[in-house]
Amino acid sequence: MRGLNKPHFTPDRMSAADTHHARYQPPANEPEELRGSALQLLAECDAQIKADATMSLKDRWDAGAIHLDRMAVLRSDAVIPGRPSRPALVSPRELERRPMNTVTGRAALIHALAHIEFNAINLALDAVWRFNDMPPEFYADWLQVAAEEALHFTLLNTHLASLGYGYGDFSAHNSLWEMAEKTREDVLARMALVPRTLEARGLDATPAVRAKLAQAGDEPAAAILDIILRDEVGHVAIGNRWYGWLCRKQGAEPLSTYRELARHYKAPVLKGPFNLEARRAAGFTEEELLALNKA
Ligand SMILES: [Fe+2]
Ligand SMILES: [Fe+2]
Repeated sequence: MRGLNKPHFTPDRMSAADTHHARYQPPANEPEELRGSALQLLAECDAQIKADATMSLKDRWDAGAIHLDRMAVLRSDAVIPGRPSRPALVSPRELERRPMNTVTGRAALIHALAHIEFNAINLALDAVWRFNDMPPEFYADWLQVAAEEALHFTLLNTHLASLGYGYGDFSAHNSLWEMAEKTREDVLARMALVPRTLEARGLDATPAVRAKLAQAGDEPAAAILDIILRDEVGHVAIGNRWYGWLCRKQGAEPLSTYRELARHYKAPVLKGPFNLEARRAAGFTEEELLALNKA
């Protein structure tokens, strides 16, 4: 048997929460394998434990202590993604908007950002375990993304605690993971629509959110958003790298293929203003940037 115990993956159980509580445990007498460990961490329900364990997985990988089985077809009987019973997940329309001039209002915004980062850890771990037969660099790239998302979550969660709140204290929405579910069978669609669409949308949105927090006098939060924006350019670049690689391999034309995938999977329509500088730094071509305004 390869790697860890993972008998069956049942798609209809993917979004249930909190019925399974995994704890990361390297298998006894077996060398640790990256993708199996990523799957175990994806099932972890406690958000901060998941974040800490993801960063330490990256440390063990960097130390050469973990091997990679890129061909294994992994299955899971755990409910994924593991997540805490709170926050309650509601439709985006039900989310309350709070004024920024109160601590609660600011905490609600930090909470919303922490929730995005928690989802982003799950999305990156999912890319590591789910798609087999990709080059080794693909797995290393997504592990790096997962560890950076874990750092982003940790920074925001720690800041939230300093405001007297914790992750789970406000409701949240689940649209990021919904895109992961829709694209679970198709690595090209996943690369097109998660990093190159949803994470790229973060590049556009972050400067305004940063300004709002700085204006409210929350300099520590603004500094965290600087780190996030810097790292997110790298995540979108990784998405572009593998989207391009897959398009070349499949003989697909990148622009028209993207349009088709966005339509087929009902990706959100992107609205400006676009952060063209960050998008250029993340490797979007001028043609792709032009196409944004035509969408
Ligand atoms: Fe992030
Ligand atoms: Fe990211």
